[in-house]
Amino acid sequence: MGWNLLVGSDGAGFGYKEAIKRDLEAHPLVDSVVDVGVGDVDEATNYPSVAIEAGERIAAGKADRAILICGTGLGVAISANKVKGIRAVTAHDIYSVRRSILSNDAQVLCLGERVIGLEHARMLVDEWIPLTFDPSSTSAPKVAEIRAHEEQNSA
Ligand code: RB5
Repeated sequence: MGWNLLVGSDGAGFGYKEAIKRDLEAHPLVDSVVDVGVGDVDEATNYPSVAIEAGERIAAGKADRAILICGTGLGVAISANKVKGIRAVTAHDIYSVRRSILSNDAQVLCLGERVIGLEHARMLVDEWIPLTFDPSSTSAPKVAEIRAHEEQNSA
């Protein structure tokens, strides 16, 4: 069983989103890729609605993970993190991308089209795809603390 992934962006991230979507669709570890928008570089939809839609789909169990892209990768991360249960990070270096899964069990990787080059972004996503979180690792209780805080906050 491979990953069921989402991709999403605003207009500022549209070009990278399309390129990364093609990479994901061709990857042997990926079963499905659903594009949650935008559908065009000039589409007026702002980054929060795209990122929240992606977060809600993951929280509902309709997808495993997402790649979200805006100009900086910041707005989509802030927005996706507003969805209960979602851990979204912006990471533009390979160590942080790895640790986003291994330490943080983050379901969402956010990238900035105006910050890094396309080949760099594609390489980061390629590194990210095979990574899995180890629930028996020393990172697990730390992620559980985040979850517990969230539960308490939303009670
Ligand atoms: C463009 O709206 C730009 O502000 C957006 O793509 C993103 O960088 C926000 O965090």
